[in-house]
Amino acid sequence: MKSPSSLVLFSLVACSGFVSAAVPLSSIKRVTNLPTASNRFIVEVDTAADIPSKRDSASLHERLYESIRARDIGFQVDKEFNEAGVFVGAALTLVDPADATALETSPGVKAIRPVKVFPAPRPVKIHVITGLDDPQIPPDTESTHILTGVDKLHAEGITGAGIKIGILDTGIDYTHPALGGGFGPGHKVIGGFDLVGDDYDGSNTPVPDPDPLDQCNGHGTHVAGIIGADPLANPFNISGVAFSASLSSYRVFGCAGSVTDDVLVDALLMGFRDGQDIMTLSLGGADGWTESTSEVLASRLVERGKIITIAASNDGASGSWYSSSPGNGINVISVASLDNTVIPIQTATVQGAQHDPIPYFSLFPIPVTEPLPIFATSNDTTVVDDACNPLPDDTPDLSGFLVVVRRGTCSFVQKLQNIADKGGKLTLIYDNGSGFAAIDVGDFNATLIQADDGAFLVSEFVAGVPITVSFPQEGGLIQFPDDTGGLISAFTSYGPSNDFFFKPAVAAPGGNILSTLPVPLGSYGVESGTSMATPFIAGSSALLLSVKGKSQAVTSNARTLFETTAQTISSSHTDGDPLQTVTQQGAGLVNVFNAIHSTTVLSPGEFILNDTAHFNGKHTLTVKNTGNSQKRYSVRHVPAGTAVTFQPGTIFPAVGPVPLTTAAASVSFSTSSFTLAPGASRSVVATFTLPEGDESTFPLYSGFIHVATDVEDLHVSYIGLGASLINAQVLDDTDVFFGEKIPAVIDASGNFQTSPTNYTFDSDTGDFPVLLWRQAFGTPIFRVDLVDANVNFIPTISSRQVKEDTGTPITFPRVRLGGTFARVPIIGSILEVDFLTRNNEDPNDNGFNTVAFDTPTFANGTTIPNGLYKYLIRSLKVTGDSSKEEDFESWLSPIVGVFA
Ligand SMILES: *[C@@H]1O[C@H](CO)[C@@H](O)[C@H](O)[C@H]1NC(C)=O
Ligand SMILES: *[C@@H]1O[C@H](CO)[C@@H](O)[C@H](O)[C@H]1NC(C)=O
Ligand SMILES: *[C@@H]1O[C@H](CO)[C@@H](O)[C@H](O)[C@H]1NC(C)=O
Ligand SMILES: *[C@@H]1O[C@H](CO)[C@@H](O)[C@H](O)[C@H]1NC(C)=O
Ligand SMILES: *[C@@H]1O[C@H](CO)[C@@H](O)[C@H](O)[C@H]1NC(C)=O
Ligand SMILES: *[C@@H]1O[C@H](CO)[C@@H](O)[C@H](O)[C@H]1NC(C)=O
Ligand SMILES: *[C@@H]1O[C@H](CO)[C@@H](O)[C@H](O)[C@H]1NC(C)=O
Repeated sequence: MKSPSSLVLFSLVACSGFVSAAVPLSSIKRVTNLPTASNRFIVEVDTAADIPSKRDSASLHERLYESIRARDIGFQVDKEFNEAGVFVGAALTLVDPADATALETSPGVKAIRPVKVFPAPRPVKIHVITGLDDPQIPPDTESTHILTGVDKLHAEGITGAGIKIGILDTGIDYTHPALGGGFGPGHKVIGGFDLVGDDYDGSNTPVPDPDPLDQCNGHGTHVAGIIGADPLANPFNISGVAFSASLSSYRVFGCAGSVTDDVLVDALLMGFRDGQDIMTLSLGGADGWTESTSEVLASRLVERGKIITIAASNDGASGSWYSSSPGNGINVISVASLDNTVIPIQTATVQGAQHDPIPYFSLFPIPVTEPLPIFATSNDTTVVDDACNPLPDDTPDLSGFLVVVRRGTCSFVQKLQNIADKGGKLTLIYDNGSGFAAIDVGDFNATLIQADDGAFLVSEFVAGVPITVSFPQEGGLIQFPDDTGGLISAFTSYGPSNDFFFKPAVAAPGGNILSTLPVPLGSYGVESGTSMATPFIAGSSALLLSVKGKSQAVTSNARTLFETTAQTISSSHTDGDPLQTVTQQGAGLVNVFNAIHSTTVLSPGEFILNDTAHFNGKHTLTVKNTGNSQKRYSVRHVPAGTAVTFQPGTIFPAVGPVPLTTAAASVSFSTSSFTLAPGASRSVVATFTLPEGDESTFPLYSGFIHVATDVEDLHVSYIGLGASLINAQVLDDTDVFFGEKIPAVIDASGNFQTSPTNYTFDSDTGDFPVLLWRQAFGTPIFRVDLVDANVNFIPTISSRQVKEDTGTPITFPRVRLGGTFARVPIIGSILEVDFLTRNNEDPNDNGFNTVAFDTPTFANGTTIPNGLYKYLIRSLKVTGDSSKEEDFESWLSPIVGVFA
């Protein structure tokens, strides 16, 4: 997952109208950059199909391969999947990707989906320090557990015993004392498998082995500690949410890089076979749809009695409609992150003057035992570029000092290098504003302190007061209040999915979380991300199952239970600001104690009002009193902020934090108060009316229907759109991103083609066209067809390597499109990509799409005859009908001459 710090472009656009030419054309690489592996597909077999074979005894898989071979399709089997009733099929690499069409129509093939690539789970922030230990006895005082009622469950002895949790991640360092110190039956980590090996990076061949040990990455070890850290075996009193549960590690990432769908499918099926009750995946990538293989399978496993928790992702900076796969899986629990209320950090003390202990950003004390005199690199606490230049010649040898320097202008490392050049070994950097966070200082010994503390130290230095600073090796740890504590982490990706599913589902603490790291990587660290929130819900699910049992009734209702008993979260700490949009907080912060002990059951957890064209404004909720006394209930509506999901007057989604307004839906109820005897239930009908709103900003209304007694307060969460999704422009036809209008064909010299151009498709000289476009919004179907240069067709937009290995990128052109769509005369299909996500604002991440047409071939592999053509690109609007030409946006390229 990408870090939110990498945004830029549209935030500029947002505040200053249209800033153009931001992304230089020279930065566009002449390769295909779609998030699917070029020639690799997952084929799902219809087990009921009668696939003919020459041998009666042939297995289903053999029959499948036989029938594919009979169609002259060259392929290699990467993986076989054989879980009857769940998923039967294979991951195949095609010799010629163009054969995908033929593959799709082979007997017994139920579905074929391209292999998606998921980025490595990257934490948003991390700070690890090398350190020391001081073991203590632990009560559960963890702030994250107090926020969510987990501490009270632990006090009742509910710790997840007897529940099996499978973690699909980078592996686990099970040698860690807090994670049991061993592997296999009898240990905390009872099993698992390494599906990929250290060197796997998502593009090479996995090298599996039975041992999922991770001592090179660390992400999965942090995740495992959140679920399972043994409170008796660590110096920070960290206790896993379900520390008595049994863990299994399915290692799907190597030390670095990505993972592909087929590996995830394999791991999910392995976990299913191993009898995991819960599987958790702190991974994902922008998708917007619910259709990838791992999403479909994860969702199916929930129908088979499993609970599956998956990160909502860390793309909050990219704004709405940017939900992630596989978290979009319809039945899974997609998890948002809440910032912890405190951050564990150390303090230094001052001798020779009165001053409170100085908090510094480090989990472990700086290992310096002698008090140090200080030296300030500037006597002026307003200097903007302190120590950005080499220090003056008369600077003393700094090796015996604690150096104090102000943040600003140049990099930390540059300042620290200048200080090191004068012998400095240890530095405190004071902030130049109100910032206070973990910083990256490379190999130097330095950390951040607050501006006020820095100003104090400098003033003492200037005054010539001979103070010293020391670093207590014990007792210096404090729980520093986090400014954004208790709010949804800004990095949490916003939903909903483009097909309007409710994503994310619930939130859990994920910002500034202390947990385990591999022993060689420092043993403990603080990390942030929805990756940290996700195992919290997995652990919470284990607590639930350990109390209520593992029946299908419990597992398939888990999401609803967590949602209806969650706590709704504000959008800020300012009084009067609205609740955070449900599209980022889901149903709110999980309260596991309430989920388990509530004696009212409310269902469903979600009302989906959909868009205005498919408005579903009438919903029924059911309330059941499962307590043993009569209860009086009242029903009320509490709206959340309405997310203004598009920048007014543009086709661009608003970047995060997405602006909120207080324009809210109104709701009437069939009854607003009633009494229920023990065991009784009744239903209430809620009828919604959406407010007026500027449809062009695609306002997303959301909120909560509370059903409360004096002591209980549950809610159903709702989302609805005050616009019709078919009106969302899908193709970017502006010049905002590149300073010139797109879509465009880029010629051999890297310029936008503006006049007829001939190409030789000579790979040595690179003389081939590259298509460049942006999806302003996700699309169910993106297609490129070759048409006659003189085609009589008016597009909606007026004109003025699937990786390195192969030719034309597939997915596959489908034959099913009929209607007016089929009336446009085409010469042949070049490309079809289904369920494409929208692009984001970051040119270095998912800012735009390119496809290199480096061979002169149709999608089916046949060579395009020499001649003059145009490319016709068409993108189906969301909720559009694929047989209707008018539901597509389209663009015709300038004339492209094929002279190979
Ligand atoms: C751990 O718990 C013990 C007992 O309550 C307490 O004295 C100690 O300060 C705690 N340690 C940390 C690091 O919070
Ligand atoms: C602090 O320094 C950073 C880095 O140079 C700079 O971006 C920021 O504007 C400065 N802030 C203040 C308040 O001076
Ligand atoms: C960091 O501190 C350690 C221990 O005091 C010292 O050995 C090391 O040289 C310091 N590193 C740098 C880059 O100053
Ligand atoms: C900064 O203050 C110290 C202590 O008063 C003094 O020795 C030094 O000369 C001052 N530096 C400058 C550049 O004024
Ligand atoms: C919203 O409406 C569209 C169009 O009818 C439909 O395809 C989609 O499934 C609906 N979404 C949900 C979550 O019901
Ligand atoms: C492309 O090649 C054709 C056939 O050789 C020729 O007629 C045409 O003028 C060429 N176009 C350009 C722009 O060079
Ligand atoms: C491939 O597609 C082209 C263009 O539609 C068509 O002319 C050709 O017959 C197809 N070839 C095969 C082998 O189906």
